[in-house]
Amino acid sequence: MRISIMGCGYVGLVTGACLAEMGHDVVCTDNDGGKIERLNQGALPIYEPNLGDIVVRNEKAKRLSFTANLGEAVRFGDAIFICVGTPPLQDGDADLSAMDSAARLIAAEARSSKLVIEKSTVPMQTGQKLKRALGIYARNSGCSFSVASNPEFLCEGTAVADFLHPDRIVIGVGDEHTEVQLREIYRPLVEQTIACPIHNGNCPPKPAPRLLVTSINSAELIKHACNSFLAVKISYANLIADICENMGADVDEVVEAMGLDPRIGPHFLRPGLGFGGFCLPKDVQAFIRLGQKASVDVSLLKDAECINKNRIESFLAKARQALWILKDKRIGILGLAFKPGTDDIRFAPATELISRLLQEQAKLQVYDPEAMEKTKVLFPSIRYCDDPHDVADGAEALMIATEWPVFKTLDWRRIERSMSRPLILDGRNLLSGEEMTALGFEYRGVGKPTDESAHAAAHHGQAPSR
Ligand code: UGA
Repeated sequence: MRISIMGCGYVGLVTGACLAEMGHDVVCTDNDGGKIERLNQGALPIYEPNLGDIVVRNEKAKRLSFTANLGEAVRFGDAIFICVGTPPLQDGDADLSAMDSAARLIAAEARSSKLVIEKSTVPMQTGQKLKRALGIYARNSGCSFSVASNPEFLCEGTAVADFLHPDRIVIGVGDEHTEVQLREIYRPLVEQTIACPIHNGNCPPKPAPRLLVTSINSAELIKHACNSFLAVKISYANLIADICENMGADVDEVVEAMGLDPRIGPHFLRPGLGFGGFCLPKDVQAFIRLGQKASVDVSLLKDAECINKNRIESFLAKARQALWILKDKRIGILGLAFKPGTDDIRFAPATELISRLLQEQAKLQVYDPEAMEKTKVLFPSIRYCDDPHDVADGAEALMIATEWPVFKTLDWRRIERSMSRPLILDGRNLLSGEEMTALGFEYRGVGKPTDESAHAAAHHGQAPSR
């Protein structure tokens, strides 16, 4: 099928490249002409594993192209995926102005009827408004537009694999013809007929995805409901971690046992500095606003958000407890991206941590495998190290803010020797406390029993967990 992608952000690029990989003819556009120019020169604006390879291959195969000519892109596709940003407004609502601009553009430039698919994360009932707007903006054009919602469940860092091996595909439609068109688009995934470019024929065994056909409202709600549930789950793990830390238990032991219950499951129970990124925090906010407008009690979501916001403060409290005054203390930070596998720092816990430490006038030296360039724009005056070991030089504490697996295999003996005080504050429980203690570090993880909590537990007649 001929497909247009409007918006070359992370979702648009992954969607466009993967649809081309599935055999469709795809043209992508963006109102940032500079971005299109860079894409045409072969420069991807984001770091996303496997994306570069499939972009190049499909461009060569003439199935994928990028154009700054918005009208040409609109006219190309029988189906148009809207993948524009929906950032949070001051009050937490999603800013849908880019959706509205896309609708105006489609209505003005289309010369034939189109299927318009919302891929961006939007609040419920946006599809209805989009359909109405398209009708009004195109009232004299003679073109008609059907609208569908097709939420994405991609995770940054594994987005290409997630797209090509989905657990489920949700299509929210209002008529049968739209359903047929979307089934056709996703047929290669449902029938598992594509030669997966990532695993070279050795894809991990996985059942074929279920394609769920719902109303447009339900599809929109599914996306917000999923992201908010994940956020609640993480905050719950963080609540358990705080209880562990204050009363002498080990959160890793607790969540491991919890996760073995199939009703709970092991995922998204990792405690730490909390959830960041451009999806979970803003989607919870937008979902809270939606619930409030629907006169629903959203206190569960508000509490999850509140627990998340307090993560950095409680981590800093731990730092102050160990270091007393933070002013002029040299502190190393490993990890800047909001999670491993990406260079994205939007709403990254590390960014908030750095701001707060700078307010207290700590001296920072930082490292991340992918996110340093983006962080330099926000914090130009801190020291960026090319070698992760260098963040420890002369430092009185080393903080781990993102759990990049590569940090586990650093030369920790060398790091211990180079620190002026070998203190690790592991905000992601990446390292083994036992191993680090054996190497001579003072190690503080998240949700681990401390000397004080172990003492308190013993005082109350309980054996500490370790
Ligand atoms: C999230 C959802 O997981 C995807 O399903 C969804 O498609 C996507 O948003 C989206 O709406 O586009 P993503 O933002 O890439 O994906 O990142 P996650 O893997 O969900 O992680 C979000 C944050 O939660 C990260 O800061 C991560 O470090 C944190 N996290 C995650 C935890 O603190 N603990 C966990 O157990 C898991």
